[in-house]
Amino acid sequence: MKILVIVAHPNLSASQANKRWTEVIEKENGVTVHRLYEIYPDWNIDVKREQQLVEDHDRIILQFPFYWCSCPPLLKKWLDDVLAYGWAYGSKGKKMHGKELMIATSTGEPLTEYRPEGEMKYTINELLRPFEITMNYVGAVFLPPFAFGGIHAPSDETIEHSAQLYVEHALNKNFLSLKKQVRV
Ligand SMILES: Cc1cc2nc3c(=O)[nH]c(=O)nc-3n(C[C@H](O)[C@H](O)[C@H](O)COP(=O)(O)O)c2cc1C
Repeated sequence: MKILVIVAHPNLSASQANKRWTEVIEKENGVTVHRLYEIYPDWNIDVKREQQLVEDHDRIILQFPFYWCSCPPLLKKWLDDVLAYGWAYGSKGKKMHGKELMIATSTGEPLTEYRPEGEMKYTINELLRPFEITMNYVGAVFLPPFAFGGIHAPSDETIEHSAQLYVEHALNKNFLSLKKQVRV
């Protein structure tokens, strides 16, 4: 299985979680890491190149820090540009069909706040619904997301632990048994 990890962090060198996650997953066989903000500092996305990258991989992971309950803006632009009519949707747009799509996100707030009684009121999976629905729309298989919370002032051990959990989740092949549109 070929995995493409699209890392969307506006300042990866200053990051704790996403920087380490990227370093760790990049060492795995069959994994291509694609640092969006480094590749497109001018935000001028090469759509053909990105579409080819997606076509060449089986599982696409969108990895990003959770910003205002969504993804950083360059990743939103990537989705707008790359999931084009005639490629991702429309009668001839079937290139996302059957691709596995996973979200991997870090949050400042602990995940315990992401529940009805918590400060964030909704679960991470609920807040990621727009991604899930988008991927359902283009025929991709939306895999259970990976989220790691409480990244405000984390210890090195916490970051290391999150990186191990992330890689385990990212490489998990057993999601396949869930098949088609996974509700989380
Ligand atoms: C613009 C901005 C918006 C943020 N919005 C949220 C948010 O909605 N929920 C949350 O839990 N954390 C939020 N955070 C905190 C980040 O998610 C957190 O700093 C990040 O996940 C840490 O990962 P990193 O070490 O890779 O930068 C926000 C941070 C910034 C800079």
